[in-house]
Amino acid sequence: MQIDVFTLFPDAFAWFERQRHVANALAGGHRLEYVNYRDHTPLGAGQVDDTPFGGGAGMVLRVDVVEAALWARYGRDPVQLRQDRRVIVLAPGGTLLDDALVGELAREEALTLLSGRYEGFDQRIVDHFASDEVSIGRYVLAGGELAAMVLCDAVLRKLPGALGHPDSALEESFSDALAGAPEYPHYTRPAEWRGWRVPDVLLSGHHARIREWRLAQSAARGTGSADGPLP
Ligand code: ADE
Repeated sequence: MQIDVFTLFPDAFAWFERQRHVANALAGGHRLEYVNYRDHTPLGAGQVDDTPFGGGAGMVLRVDVVEAALWARYGRDPVQLRQDRRVIVLAPGGTLLDDALVGELAREEALTLLSGRYEGFDQRIVDHFASDEVSIGRYVLAGGELAAMVLCDAVLRKLPGALGHPDSALEESFSDALAGAPEYPHYTRPAEWRGWRVPDVLLSGHHARIREWRLAQSAARGTGSADGPLP
């Protein structure tokens, strides 16, 4: 998979790339590349944003700047680009990212992520260049970089070879294997600490009973969805 992140702060991703599963994915041939809007702005002095028409606080990322960056990267009109490539604007009001959307994105060959700063994007960027507008939660971050990292983290760990153990991504919270429910609780040594005992069934060595217990625990934690709190 090729992921292109458009950002004003490519350096922000240095730490992210060092994370084990990201490094594994990159070593396995997947690619994460960055385009700095500022490198492609047609305006003077590296300008990328402007004050909002109608007044109000903050600055808005300009449509001409984003268009120039997309043109420079792909050599074609960004209006056409979204027909055969997911071009995802990261914004607090977008579709909430959940495991199903992550799985869908992980099946793409290429993704383009547009992260913004300031007050947000000129709406024409969303309307004419983007295939999706995605939010990582109903709160406002100072910029889309963390949101882009969250999305990349969740997508990359679904790719074969990213995790140390291939089964890790199969039976985890919100997966089909658990019918969309959160994962069951885990315990490790010591088997007892301050009187807090690990459930006997997990020490029994009885695999069928352990499995049954885990599925029941997972189901009991509920099938909370992105639309509402866990019960
Ligand atoms: N940019 C700022 N806040 C965001 C959020 N909650 N999700 C995605 N992108 C954002």
